[in-house]
Amino acid sequence: MDIKLDISKIHGFVSEATVNGYADKTASAHAKLINGTGEGNDFLGWVNLPDDIMPQLDDICITAQQLRSECEVIVCVGIGGSYLGAKAVIDALSNSFAAQSKLFPQIVYAGQNISEDYLYELQQYLIDKKFGIVSISKSGTTTEPALAFRLLKTQLEQQQDKEAAKRLIVCITDKAKGALRTLATQEGYKTYVIEDNIGGRFSVLSPVGLLPIACAGFDIRKLISGAQRMKELCASDKLEQNPAAQYAAARNALYESGKKIELLVNFHPKLHNIAEWWKQLYGESEGKGHKALFPASVDFTTDLHSMGQYIQDGERHLFETVISVAEPEHHVNFPHNDANLDGLNFLAGKRVDEVNKMAELGTMLAHVDGGVPNIKLTMPRLNEYYLGELIYFFEFACGISGYVLGVNPFNQPGVEAYKKNMFALLDKPGYEKESAAIKARLA
Ligand code: PA5
Repeated sequence: MDIKLDISKIHGFVSEATVNGYADKTASAHAKLINGTGEGNDFLGWVNLPDDIMPQLDDICITAQQLRSECEVIVCVGIGGSYLGAKAVIDALSNSFAAQSKLFPQIVYAGQNISEDYLYELQQYLIDKKFGIVSISKSGTTTEPALAFRLLKTQLEQQQDKEAAKRLIVCITDKAKGALRTLATQEGYKTYVIEDNIGGRFSVLSPVGLLPIACAGFDIRKLISGAQRMKELCASDKLEQNPAAQYAAARNALYESGKKIELLVNFHPKLHNIAEWWKQLYGESEGKGHKALFPASVDFTTDLHSMGQYIQDGERHLFETVISVAEPEHHVNFPHNDANLDGLNFLAGKRVDEVNKMAELGTMLAHVDGGVPNIKLTMPRLNEYYLGELIYFFEFACGISGYVLGVNPFNQPGVEAYKKNMFALLDKPGYEKESAAIKARLA
């Protein structure tokens, strides 16, 4: 069994022939990814990563084991592609209430914002706890994680001695460039390299995602083997044989037909952060040249009670891509009650998942009737293997989709604009001219 894609519920909005009409474009995009002949071709290291990463897995597991044996809490420091993938997988696999087990440390995150209250509360939480730090920044110069890392490193060195802190800090960064590389070399920290040809949002199957996931106690070999399987399934350049190409064609066809927003939907709260990862992947890869679908997300049935009205009846510029989990990990049967005061005996004996699945089916029919096309991805189970499949599926589809749209999916020039202003406003050395200009503008 593999993840299954069903695009049949878009055909009332864009015909099968229209979607199939993308076959040449998806084949050409596929060739660009495989042969490295498209724009951004120096960032295609993720394409073969499920195979190329294999020799590093043992070492990553050993490092994770060392951190686990010494830490109650591990702080993953990073932003954007340097933390979203790990958080997505860890949250998808973790128990919603309890720690994974007493054997594994709690994973928390820092460097993904600049909130003083967040950092204060984190520092308070870590007082008297044995904690470690996995500091992740490809460039090694990003402000948010650099700021958090300095604060946490200082605290760790105060709580432990500097020598002990050395064992509890691992850095994942560029092989030569950036302040984090210089710092890690001088301090003698264990490091992993983010290869030049792997961009942040495509790096979850590199040490960037794998070390935190292994620290949380999950099986990174299964994750990689799922990704390898999806790589095989995406090998064909024929639209009808390649699920990622079909998804890319379907979403481009819907975009061309006037649907401007893609909602990634789940009926399983553990998938919430998969959507956060997906939004970065598609938003940062495709949102260029004043075009592209706006990637958004909702958690159902929760958000049917907040956003459901709009989706059913608001502006018709949406379509939904639903990730459905076929079989939950646990069974809960709904009990019979003689008094039946809540009137729910019609559900007695059914599994809660049956109710959830009927909610899913009912929602799909209602939304399609209301003018919202539906793409469905079915994961057989929510485990490491199928998450590996899902991640590679979305990555490969994103590469194809970006090329079909006519953008370079592997750069992110737009991210620099806010940084330039922030540095100018903070009087960073080297930004004197920008600083004078921005202050004159705000005066
Ligand atoms: O996908 C990307 O390239 C970005 O989201 C980066 O991951 C993010 O900006 C963090 O960059 P860095 O890892 O260099 O700190």
